[in-house]
Amino acid sequence: MNPAELSVQTRAAADWIAQYYAQLEHRSVKPAVWPGEIAAQLPAAAPEQGDSLSAILADFERIVLPGITHWQHPNFYAYFPANASSPAIVAEILTAGLAVNCMLWQTSPAGTELEARMLEWLRDAMGLPRSWAGSIQTTASEATLTALLTARERALDWRGLRQGLSGAPRFTVYCSEEAHSSVDKAVMIAGLGLDNLRKIPSDEKFALRPEALAAAIQADVAAGARPLAVVATLGTTGVGGIDPLRKIGEICHAHRLWLHADAAWAGSALLLPECRAMMDGAELADSFVFNPHKWMLTNFDCSVFYVRDRKTLTRTFEILPEYLKTAEDSEVINYRDWGIPLGRRFRALKLWFVLRAFGLEGIRAKLREHIAWTTQIARQISSEKDFEISSPPALALFSFRYCPRGKTDAAELDALNARLLAALNDSGQAYFTQTRVRGRTVIRWCIGSPQTEWRHVEETWGLVRKTAASL
Ligand SMILES: Cc1ncc(COP(=O)(O)O)c(C=O)c1O
Repeated sequence: MNPAELSVQTRAAADWIAQYYAQLEHRSVKPAVWPGEIAAQLPAAAPEQGDSLSAILADFERIVLPGITHWQHPNFYAYFPANASSPAIVAEILTAGLAVNCMLWQTSPAGTELEARMLEWLRDAMGLPRSWAGSIQTTASEATLTALLTARERALDWRGLRQGLSGAPRFTVYCSEEAHSSVDKAVMIAGLGLDNLRKIPSDEKFALRPEALAAAIQADVAAGARPLAVVATLGTTGVGGIDPLRKIGEICHAHRLWLHADAAWAGSALLLPECRAMMDGAELADSFVFNPHKWMLTNFDCSVFYVRDRKTLTRTFEILPEYLKTAEDSEVINYRDWGIPLGRRFRALKLWFVLRAFGLEGIRAKLREHIAWTTQIARQISSEKDFEISSPPALALFSFRYCPRGKTDAAELDALNARLLAALNDSGQAYFTQTRVRGRTVIRWCIGSPQTEWRHVEETWGLVRKTAASL
């Protein structure tokens, strides 16, 4: 590596990024490309000879950029956001430069100790139980799988690790019908079997019905199964439903079930004291995940995972070949034992930069802004004759649909809303995704990009009305 050359190149890259953000709102949110269009511009085999970085960068602009969906665009309202911010980007550049692996304390003492401290800062700032200990994982999917594997081994007194699952009881897992597909995936991968995942009906507020959960557990026990775990969702993906954690926790407690709380998106709102009610009953949970990379100004990837009893977790994941032993093992945290991967990126650095650069108040202000705009635009839509709110604002998410007067056929309205969504997304001016509410196709609107200002929301609403009228 030539440091002088590196300096020129990284400065150029940094300037490129700054310019990208300066121009971002003029780009099309979703690219107008066809499947295979980008791949067709890439040679079928890797080059034998090296190329200059300037040639590679030129191709980046020519081939890659036209195929990018711009997640940081102010009019990105689809899925849940994946936040970025200047301090997090700077930290990511430094992380790339250091290029360390934080698998053991010894392989990066600062990486480990900063991670532990950042997780304490967040835990305390969110009012979570002080006994909880956490680590950073890649995604909420990984955290939920980690939680279910730990629950499984606790129930088997860790025999499954050695003997496998052939003699194990038939475990059952519970979540609401609104839970994210990562729960299904975790059940599949943990060897529990999708047939043993119970999707519990939700109520009119899209929250799991505790009495239906209790009945399902009893039915499974009566049928000879062994209830293992419940995954409660705080902020469901479709409409932002909040499962009643305390009531679920009491049921889990009575049956000795593991309770995992998935707050992948909504968890960031726990920084707001006025939103803490959703975490009532936290002390009954065994594990909890939220993604600062969704709504806490932190670049992807950064998923924060807490457990009530860290020994239960490390007993499930600890493995110690000779080459990983270090002299300090008994005194330090070795995050290799806290989850599935051995190698770990230095992700705590960007959390530290974000928390210091914005302060908790700066982050809270952004969250409150998004929540207020969501309420405001939903109120505006609800006063329109040809539109209806399908699910009310839950933090910074609501859903709506177009239902022009005189049109009542359900299938026709579904098709109309699917066409509206496609037309909006094809316009390149905004990006939304759909969900189904009580069986009907609706459009989700989630405000969460740090680039979004109120004017973008208002302009987008104008676009929605105009596009709907043109269908
Ligand atoms: C409630 C919920 N849980 C889990 C996930 C999966 O998140 P990840 O991409 O971090 O695995 C999502 C994604 O949007 C989600 O909304």
